[in-house]
Amino acid sequence: MSLWGGRFIKEPDRFFKIFNRSLNVDYKLVKQDIFLSIQWSKALTKVNVLTLEEQKKIEFALNAILKEVEINSKIILESQEEDIHSWIEKKLISSLGSLGKKLHTGRSRNDQVTTDLKLWCKCNIKKILNSVNNLKKKLINLAEKNQKSIMPGYTHLQSAQPITFAYWCLAYLEMFKRDESRLKDALYRLDENPLGSGALAGTAWKINREELSINLGFRTATKNALDSVSDRDYVIELLSTASISMIHLSRFSEDLIFFNSGEVNFIELSDSVTSGSSLMPQKKNPDALELIRGKCGKVCGNLISNMILLKGLPLSYNKDMQEDKKNLFETIEIWINCLKMSVLVLENITVNLKNCRKSAQKGYTNATELADYLVKKGMPFRDAHDITGKIILYASKLNLSLEKIELKVFKNYSNLIEKDVYENISLNSSLKKRDALGGVSFSQVSKMIELEKKFLNM
Ligand code: ARG
Repeated sequence: MSLWGGRFIKEPDRFFKIFNRSLNVDYKLVKQDIFLSIQWSKALTKVNVLTLEEQKKIEFALNAILKEVEINSKIILESQEEDIHSWIEKKLISSLGSLGKKLHTGRSRNDQVTTDLKLWCKCNIKKILNSVNNLKKKLINLAEKNQKSIMPGYTHLQSAQPITFAYWCLAYLEMFKRDESRLKDALYRLDENPLGSGALAGTAWKINREELSINLGFRTATKNALDSVSDRDYVIELLSTASISMIHLSRFSEDLIFFNSGEVNFIELSDSVTSGSSLMPQKKNPDALELIRGKCGKVCGNLISNMILLKGLPLSYNKDMQEDKKNLFETIEIWINCLKMSVLVLENITVNLKNCRKSAQKGYTNATELADYLVKKGMPFRDAHDITGKIILYASKLNLSLEKIELKVFKNYSNLIEKDVYENISLNSSLKKRDALGGVSFSQVSKMIELEKKFLNM
């Protein structure tokens, strides 16, 4: 019989039982639910619902259940129970008899499930932060090694201005730093304990909820039971942080797929993260990156799914909420795996210095330099832009780079152009000049790398 069978005369329909069951998803909360139950038994002792001796017995039995699960986790899924809370309580009752039936005093599965879920989130946020950190370190290492790897930077996927591979790495570093900060914010906000909220209006026992919260490892207790049992903001917040981070990872993947393409050839991905074609022997496909890019869809979809799940739900708990865990668990798993895979991809990457440089020299990435040069000589920027455009038109017809144009030809466009134009439009000078904070200059990049290394104790 289910834990709520008392007022029912008829047995539930078999199909309804299966439909209603969440055990195959929420079994993942077993550790959290046992930990929570032990802390709850201690709180019940303080309000004289349990004697100290009874509490010890409950704690011992709960720990024994945990051991059993650790040895063989399959035992949970072999059962027909509705959810993990019912499964643990049933196990406790079968081991302690009547005493086991006392544990649920003053609590509800409504405050229990959200407390479990928050505990699970807290533990997993720590894992994600660790994975983000690994990726950040890898990017910094790669940046440090590639400070001189000049390549074109793009806008509209058209060569725009020269950058370095190191600078590209640091751009993604900034994105992952923001993800990290979003995660920490989310962690702070969710770090409030709902246990002791009962079904929706608070518990009828004089539980010291502040103390219970500390024992459960929370920063503080939630302040309104009605909100506490219906709040799933933290799930949405985590899924949204995951979605933004996966969007970053998908852009990162796309950049690398482009850099690795035969046409561009700035990098070569290692054999260890690519696969071949069953038909075309020449192929080395960037599968790992394509999969990261693809999995982003699932993560964003799960966010939307959970937002719509909550939209318009009346207070307080509704069974709809049971559906939120599958998406959350799936998202966190995908996210951690993609972070790990990204580290692996970067670990074995080769940067083709020559190709990067050659490409930066093509595509008129130094056109802005020529315009700036004219400005330095006194021409208003708009005119300089126009004249440079005309020079580019001339050069592109002849397939000439700007450096190859003779001085007398330059002079046809503007008398302000002198011999010193050549050093002004070189790749190195373009990079060197961008020395304001956040710019691509070698010295800015190396300062950033040093700063980040210090920050991460590298
Ligand atoms: N399995 C449920 C969930 O995941 C637990 C809470 C059930 N509460 C209830 N009143 N039926 O949401």
